[in-house]
Amino acid sequence: MQNIPPERQRKLRTWTHAKQAYALKGFGKSGEEVILLDLASNDYLGLSKHPKLIEAVNQVIALDGVGAGASRLVTGSRPIHQELERDLASWLGQESVLLFPSGFQANLAGVLALADRSTTVIADRLIHHSLLIGVKASGANLKRFAHNDLDDLERHLKLCNNKNNQRKSLVLTESLFSMEGTSPPLQIMARLCEKHGAQLFVDEAHALGILGSDGRGLCHEISEPITLLSGTFGKAFGSGGAFLASSKRMREHLLQTCGAFRYSTALAPPLAAAALAALHLINENKAWGIELQKRANNWRSRLSQAGWLRPPGHGPILPLVIGTDQQALYYQNKLEKEGLLSIAIRPPTVPEGTSRLRLIIRRDLPDGTLERLLNVLEAS
Ligand SMILES: Cc1ncc(COP(=O)(O)O)c(C=O)c1O
Repeated sequence: MQNIPPERQRKLRTWTHAKQAYALKGFGKSGEEVILLDLASNDYLGLSKHPKLIEAVNQVIALDGVGAGASRLVTGSRPIHQELERDLASWLGQESVLLFPSGFQANLAGVLALADRSTTVIADRLIHHSLLIGVKASGANLKRFAHNDLDDLERHLKLCNNKNNQRKSLVLTESLFSMEGTSPPLQIMARLCEKHGAQLFVDEAHALGILGSDGRGLCHEISEPITLLSGTFGKAFGSGGAFLASSKRMREHLLQTCGAFRYSTALAPPLAAAALAALHLINENKAWGIELQKRANNWRSRLSQAGWLRPPGHGPILPLVIGTDQQALYYQNKLEKEGLLSIAIRPPTVPEGTSRLRLIIRRDLPDGTLERLLNVLEAS
């Protein structure tokens, strides 16, 4: 077992929602109760406590109970799964969708469907752990390109073209990187993949509900085909569970061959119901994503005016890169004392020397939150 030095060890803290969904109730260092404004979770649209989601969950529980009781291929399939798959595919402009119990599982399954020992996988240096685990499990040859650097990607693609005894290469990226707040130039990337005959798998976990037209993610705007797209309901959708979106042919292939789908209990029906209610809300409130991005960009400008490096990107993830573990923890504790919760993200999650506060903007944060944050940062 890996030996983790004490300063790198993580502690589990338990939180419940306070009266307002945007605040969390937990316990401080000496066991005292604390209520903190949530600048840390991925509940970007504040949907996890939305009455429509709760109502949908209750209705499905009354009909179907809590758990699915079996894999989708045994007795675990419910009408709510099919309804969610159909509406989601149509919203995304994709031929089909297949649900998974978690995004980690969906990513693992997606990579395994597209890669094997004879594949070269070319992955952005900062892709999510679940995708990397998929590559490891597939036995593929892994190459990494510099974060969002298309010249470096093309260099790798050209090298792959020279090897003719292998399966199509596979490019892996995310449409909104969760620790960086950055997005790749996806349209150009998709063209490059097409030109070099490579498959493209995009993880839209953090973008869905926020980025792209009406919050439909960045793949929705791409003219070239995307081989596979993954998304999770655990973030802007305020629920849990995940999916892979693809052609009908690919869905059928996943259904027939994918162990992570076949041999796992189906997504719990109440979570599927909450995800469907969230999808309908997002579709009815098309401005939510744009409004959140506007607010996030205002935060970026104000932080940079206050002397911080402007956090990159346009979405609701604003990393404030600080440096050492200790410095980042110092700021986390300082914010906590003033009622604000932002988590210090440290290696190995991010590269050495780039420990950071991962600030998350939620749609429902009260006015004045930014000023509170700036006051604490300024006084540090
Ligand atoms: C980029 C990315 N992909 C996939 C996942 C996994 O999703 P889930 O939480 O549904 O397992 C996460 C969640 O942490 C993520 O940040």
